Amino acid sequence: MKLTEKIGLAALHRMDPEAAHGLSIKALKAGLAPAPGPITSPRLRTTIAGLDLPNPVGLAAGFDKNGEVLAPLSRAGFGFIEVGAVTPRPQPGNPKPRLFRLTEDRAAINRFGFNNEGMEVMAGRLAQRPKEAVIGLNLGANKDSDDRPGDFAKVLAHCAPHLDFATVNVSSPNTEKLRDLQGKAALTALLSGVIETRDALARPLPIFLKIAPDLTEDELLDIADVARETGVDAVIATNTTLSRDGLSSPHKSEAGGLSGAPLFEKSTRVLAQLSKLTDGQVPLIGVGGISSAEQAYAKICAGASAVQFYTAMVFGGISLASDIAQGLDNLLARDGFEAVAQVVGSKREDWL
Ligand code: FNR
Repeated sequence: MKLTEKIGLAALHRMDPEAAHGLSIKALKAGLAPAPGPITSPRLRTTIAGLDLPNPVGLAAGFDKNGEVLAPLSRAGFGFIEVGAVTPRPQPGNPKPRLFRLTEDRAAINRFGFNNEGMEVMAGRLAQRPKEAVIGLNLGANKDSDDRPGDFAKVLAHCAPHLDFATVNVSSPNTEKLRDLQGKAALTALLSGVIETRDALARPLPIFLKIAPDLTEDELLDIADVARETGVDAVIATNTTLSRDGLSSPHKSEAGGLSGAPLFEKSTRVLAQLSKLTDGQVPLIGVGGISSAEQAYAKICAGASAVQFYTAMVFGGISLASDIAQGLDNLLARDGFEAVAQVVGSKREDWL
């Protein structure tokens, strides 16, 4: 991390976390972020669900909820970017405060509840997107919707012309009853509807499913079945957790989803379980608690074809994107591999 980024982070950490996030977005808009460009090499270059990625290290959903900083993010070193979540209509989300920094635990708790400017605004911004980047959208449902499954398809149909992939997010803990859509019957119906919408598009795109880390083995088995039966193109494991195990920060009892370091093991175990249950047939994206190249490598060896991260940037800055991608390249070279695809799932058993 450069000294200027260190000073910037120290100043941000004296502010309220949501205000600090707003300021980071402003700094990115102003061009104050590192811009090393796409980090890539023959070892890092990979493909997931037909998407060619310069490297497998992506930005997780929730950082750029409204697609405000697509261009600076595309220059920050990420191999792909997921923006959103976005719902059909704009909505304010939950009352503030709703984002908490757990510095001692290198973690965060959020209960935003899909605050966003809605699909019309998002589509307008996506229309101006940098064409060379790989950009996807996290689809959400309005809190007061009387057809939540229909909301996912609606956002997809509206924004699809500007997207490379879209993610069905039924795993946020902050919209009441949203996670009920992870049940077998509800999930099959929801995904079938979204995939039907996708198939009718002029330019069909891959559909990903994002799951919670707090599922039982039986629930995971159902999800593996549904993923195979409906033909989703990849599963993202995982979203934030409701668990509060082993935390020491003063904010540990706040309601919401926990992300960051304490989520690493739990989400990696779910990833490895899912890799086993789907027999490696469904591509997986590993997310949860990554803050180093070693951890990105570990997720890939546990079964992920690509990874994403978010919370570690709160503590390590956006230069982590290029550091992790570059570090991953070095680790692959150290171990004598020619391509990231060679190690996917190679150490899955260690996590089961
Ligand atoms: C998130 N995350 C998230 N996920 C999602 O699918 N849709 C969303 O809108 C959001 N919003 C969001 C806001 C904030 C403030 C955080 C910290 C996280 C979850 C995120 O994409 C990721 O799955 C988890 O945070 C775990 O990864 P990290 O943060 O531990 O790397």
